[in-house]
Amino acid sequence: MSTVVLVPAAGRGERLGHGVPKALVPVRGVALLVHAVRGLLSAGRVRHVVVAAPPAEVSATSALLTAHGLVAEVVPGGADRTASVRLAFEHALRVHPDVRTVLVHDAARAFTPPSVVNAVVAAVESGSPAVIPVLPVADTVKRVDAHDVVQDTPDRAALRVVQTPQGFDVATLRRAYAEAGDSATDDAGLVEKIGVPVLTIPGHPRAMKVTTPFDLAIAEAVLAEGAP
Ligand code: CTP
Ligand code: MG
Repeated sequence: MSTVVLVPAAGRGERLGHGVPKALVPVRGVALLVHAVRGLLSAGRVRHVVVAAPPAEVSATSALLTAHGLVAEVVPGGADRTASVRLAFEHALRVHPDVRTVLVHDAARAFTPPSVVNAVVAAVESGSPAVIPVLPVADTVKRVDAHDVVQDTPDRAALRVVQTPQGFDVATLRRAYAEAGDSATDDAGLVEKIGVPVLTIPGHPRAMKVTTPFDLAIAEAVLAEGAP
């Protein structure tokens, strides 16, 4: 069975503020995207990786991955994350028509343990059409109105923080992207809109998303010897 991972990496990284696309920002001297693709390929259950890069950086991104001995296909990304995933998915369907399982993984979650990647693939291959790694919510969460006044306190026992890679049976993701429109902050959100159940499995703190300079400092520490 063929598994393809789509890696949206075409964002500008504005909150990180490095002046280069976030996927190219180094952690311990190596670009986030290189860490991310290396982790995916080392998981063992991933056959192909398709990266959506900033359109001006496609050949540089391809050369970077090749220089690190990583085999991946690089396509130009789009104006937002959903557009980038859509473009990578269209490429994957064209070039790998035998694909059965599709994972979508943010380049910014570059340190996701391979065990999480494999667990997502295994859950899809066992028959779940959509699978997402999640963590429990540690903080109390409030819902606020437009004036920052608290409206209510959802029961956090029923809440989860969502990570990637998110895994899908190819037909489910194809239908979600064809029918659900573009208004979701993750791919599982599109699948929910077409009424398909989404299974959660345990995520991992290392699958954190690097968004801010603080996250980058944590990522540097995570890569240090002996980090949990
Ligand atoms: N992404 C993408 N195409 C876009 C926007 C985002 O492929 N047009 C990707 C990013 O590269 C990242 C993932 O989607 O791997 C999650 O997005 P985010 O963390 O918001 O990254 P950026 O958009 O780069 O960061 P910022 O919003 O701070 O500019
Ligand atoms: Mg963004």
